[in-house]
Amino acid sequence: MSWIQRRRSEAYYKRAKEEGFRSRAVYKLKQMDEKFFIIKSGMRILDLGASPGGWSQYSSIVNEEGLTVALDMIPMRNIDNVYFIKGDIFEKDIWSKVLKLSPDGFDLVLSDILMHTSGDRSRDQANSYFIAKRVLEICEHVLDNDGKALVKSLQGDLTDELRAEFKKHFRRVFLTKPPSSLPRSSEVYILGEHYSDR
Ligand SMILES: C[S@@+](CC[C@H](N)C(=O)[O-])C[C@H]1O[C@@H](n2cnc3c(N)ncnc32)[C@H](O)[C@@H]1O
Repeated sequence: MSWIQRRRSEAYYKRAKEEGFRSRAVYKLKQMDEKFFIIKSGMRILDLGASPGGWSQYSSIVNEEGLTVALDMIPMRNIDNVYFIKGDIFEKDIWSKVLKLSPDGFDLVLSDILMHTSGDRSRDQANSYFIAKRVLEICEHVLDNDGKALVKSLQGDLTDELRAEFKKHFRRVFLTKPPSSLPRSSEVYILGEHYSDR
């Protein structure tokens, strides 16, 4: 990591600490929300790969009047107004666990999940593609018509294929990289709007 990137990463880390957020990842969601107006109060939000909880903290603030359900395979400290489920997105029927908390489904599915990177670019990209496809499968079970999804992925050869998969389900699809995501990281976020389960 170059010193400029390290300084930028440290600055977001410091800011998160000062502002009481658990991770600097919170600024990625905040910046994407400010650009695309993703979260509105009163929504039912499912935050996948939520721990340590920056995105859930942000959701619980912006979505004060709604519901935020967070899921992660590792524990997460309690956040007011957020329901946490410990689970793995690859568990069979994981959607039935989350639907217990919101039986009529969700308006927004967030996923900031990334497996441990191996350093092997094509393997890491394939893993992230596999995760994003699983998130899409979860959307098919839990996302309401017209809902949205924001999903992290690693940019590479499979990005066009992933975008095409999203286009099968969402009327509008955007690929975005928030300013607080380090330039050297190949992470990007796919935003799907106006979900349809046709
Ligand atoms: C980059 S962190 C998320 C940071 C979070 N958005 C925040 O703002 O604090 C990625 C998370 O994904 C979780 N994760 C990885 N694989 C998962 C899986 N198969 N099922 C559920 N969570 C998973 C990890 O445990 C980790 O907490």
